[in-house]
Amino acid sequence: MKVIEAASLEALNTFGVQARAALQFDIESEEDILALPAFDPARDLLLGGGSNVLLLSDVPGNVFCNRIKGRQIVDGNGRHATVEVGAGEPWHEFVRWTLDYGLCGLENLSLIPGLAGAAPIQNIGAYGVELASVLESVTAWDWQAGNWRVFDREECRFAYRDSRFKSDEPDRYLITSLRLALSKAFAPQLTYPGLLEELGSVSTNELTAKRVSDAVVRIRQRKLPDPAVQGNAGSFFKNPIIDPGMADHLRGEHPELPAWPVDKGMIKISAAWLIERCGLKGLTDGAAGVSDRHALVVVNKGGASGADIWRLARRVRDTVEESFGIRLQPEPKIVSFHN
Ligand code: FAD
Ligand code: EPU
Repeated sequence: MKVIEAASLEALNTFGVQARAALQFDIESEEDILALPAFDPARDLLLGGGSNVLLLSDVPGNVFCNRIKGRQIVDGNGRHATVEVGAGEPWHEFVRWTLDYGLCGLENLSLIPGLAGAAPIQNIGAYGVELASVLESVTAWDWQAGNWRVFDREECRFAYRDSRFKSDEPDRYLITSLRLALSKAFAPQLTYPGLLEELGSVSTNELTAKRVSDAVVRIRQRKLPDPAVQGNAGSFFKNPIIDPGMADHLRGEHPELPAWPVDKGMIKISAAWLIERCGLKGLTDGAAGVSDRHALVVVNKGGASGADIWRLARRVRDTVEESFGIRLQPEPKIVSFHN
């Protein structure tokens, strides 16, 4: 296990904001976990690839970076294969590895940044598929009880951009590996607007999971700013889920507002549309801004601090609330150890 003193976190968060931690622990094995100091949520932070965090302050204590590697097919008999992946594996490389083995189910989740261990935290989702649809179990170290736990899918309490690990018991578990049930037969999920068009004239019998993955990669590269070029954490806000009465009222006034039915009669609406409609797309405030490519992405235009980005994001949230009466909820974890 590598331990770094006075560690710089700039390269460990995709916003690229500067921050420091007193100590950084790079965890490389399950044995390393047993040698770690106890996790103190008031002083410590757990990080994967840092693509869904906004750092507003230094970390006074320890940053624990999960780097546990490994990917294997643990049961390949039958129509499905159970695949196990270590929390420290880069997500997109893992997706491509499953496709190389002819295993389907993750293709729509291609090119999501970050590491596998964070995927269950917010039940990553894209292009009509969520992790929950393939997840079998999550293995984690329980910092509080000091033992290992295995959660089946039900116990993870997955919802849109949410799970027990994000909302109910934040910072309690260190996820070390996932098991996924992937299919040997390809069942394309092509309902997301634009995906079918991106595949162009590929005939049904030429369609493969890899082709879908490639199409998703192309769409994402076109739509979203690359964090390696311009710091960001993907969507800064979740798409609001509102009741049908509110949705009818809003769509009465704005028939073009994109909206999708979700569970229990509720309606999900597009936060990007609300932000763009407020005239905020491309807005710049100092070194922080709203991307001119996608209104839901807040960007670091160079040298922004976490506070600069958070000020801009609150301005977006407040303007949308004044205009539409809807308070947007941030998607990334907002990390602040200020008193
Ligand atoms: P981090 O940012 O390091 O951590 C996120 C949270 O998970 C933190 O609270 C952290 O403490 C916790 N955590 C991390 N690892 C562990 C672990 N092993 N055990 C316990 N807790 C842990 N997300 C989507 O859902 N869909 C998208 O389409 C999508 N697109 C994106 C596009 C871009 C350009 C970017 C920058 C981000 C995007 N994201 C998307 C958000 C992000 O990539 C995902 O949420 C990803 O799963 C975060 O992984 P990470 O390793 O970077 O997590
Ligand atoms: N739109 C605008 N203005 C824009 C961008 C989009 O009005 O600048 C409208 C479009 O008209 C479109 C709608 O918003 O109808 C939806 O846009 P898009 O398809 O880009 O998806 P999104 O709802 O903005 C969500 C996820 C993304 C995920 C994509 C694809 C959330 C918060 N975001 O974005 O996830 O990749 O769908 O499935 O659910 C992330 O979580 O970080 C993330 C990038």
